[in-house]
Amino acid sequence: MAETLYIPESTDRKAVYEALVPQIKALLDGETNLVANLANVAAVLREAFGFFWVGFYLKDQHDLVLGPFQGPLACTRIPFTKGVCGHAFTTESTVLVPDVDQFPGHIACSSASKSEVVVPVRNSAGHVVGVLDVDSDALNDFSEIDVKGLEAIVDTLAPLFS
Ligand code: SME
Repeated sequence: MAETLYIPESTDRKAVYEALVPQIKALLDGETNLVANLANVAAVLREAFGFFWVGFYLKDQHDLVLGPFQGPLACTRIPFTKGVCGHAFTTESTVLVPDVDQFPGHIACSSASKSEVVVPVRNSAGHVVGVLDVDSDALNDFSEIDVKGLEAIVDTLAPLFS
């Protein structure tokens, strides 16, 4: 596994995502424990970008249940019908929310969260098994660069859910 994380000093997030993808693949290589791997991916994203909250919610019967994360205390369970996370899970599509107050049904685990991106996580058969949720304390903090970068990172996780 990779023992140190190289983060380019660039403020260009695209360059940072491109540097992270191979390092995350190396980190996951040879380790099959799901909790350990998701915990490290959350840590890498938090360290690289300083996001307010980064974590996973995983399918558990009719809810998404909190998985490994970095950041403040968060909601433990989210029904599929609720929140940005539920919307991304049920539509099987990435959801970018520039202003959480404008998203009907947004779940405010923290009032400090202002914008977010939620990316569906798929297993190796292509079925959605959860989501990656990334929150910022700044309005309009995410763009298509984050969507593509986070989707590329989530793609590396599919073998963990085979
Ligand atoms: N805001 C999310 C809930 C999860 S927390 O932000 C960590 C939502 O609306 O689904």
